[in-house]
Amino acid sequence: MTEITEAHARELAKQAARKAELLGTCRADLAGVERILFEAGCGHGHWLTDYAEVNPGVFCIGIDLISWRIRKGNEKKAKRGLQNLHFYKAELSEFLGALPEAIRFDRTILLFPDPWPKAKHHRRRMVQLGFLDEVARRTDRGGEFCFRSDDRPYFDWTVEHLNEHPEWEIDESAQWPYESETYFQSLMDEYHSVVAKRK
Ligand SMILES: C[S@@+](CC[C@H](N)C(=O)[O-])C[C@H]1O[C@@H](n2cnc3c(N)ncnc32)[C@H](O)[C@@H]1O
Repeated sequence: MTEITEAHARELAKQAARKAELLGTCRADLAGVERILFEAGCGHGHWLTDYAEVNPGVFCIGIDLISWRIRKGNEKKAKRGLQNLHFYKAELSEFLGALPEAIRFDRTILLFPDPWPKAKHHRRRMVQLGFLDEVARRTDRGGEFCFRSDDRPYFDWTVEHLNEHPEWEIDESAQWPYESETYFQSLMDEYHSVVAKRK
């Protein structure tokens, strides 16, 4: 019992330290930034680096759980000398908890997120009502949530969650914001995309 409590306390302390470090880094990197394009689960950063390069006026942030993928993203960013782009190694909910409150999202992008096909793992999917709430809270009317997946059940799940959500409305006529093949997209024969607008 004592061991579990101590292990739990150590984990909480680690989480608090990660959050404090992220908060400090974000505050330093994003001083003066008011609006961003946010990509969750950006992998190697292919899409976001291309997007940031052709949209120098848009400040872009990509996060991923895996350090070496973020390292690859940072190498791409450095090669192209991009000032309007930051990659962070972070878990989605920890990152959202650490991001300064004042920052608004113009667009949120999810490209080929892990589908977690077994029902008992669905709670690990990035698209959850709580996540859509948090993104809606940080997005002004007309801002976009863009989702693309090769996995039909996860795509249907996302469409259902968006349809149920009071603050998002699927826009069938919206264009995908920018085409550039991601690593996972290059492995897939087909995929499905949906764009929703903040009501
Ligand atoms: C299938 S890959 C897709 C990567 C990239 N978007 C692409 O299309 O090539 C999913 C990515 O999401 C990241 N990921 C999964 N869950 C995450 C979470 N909770 N927070 C941050 N990143 C996460 C994984 O580490 C992985 O790199």
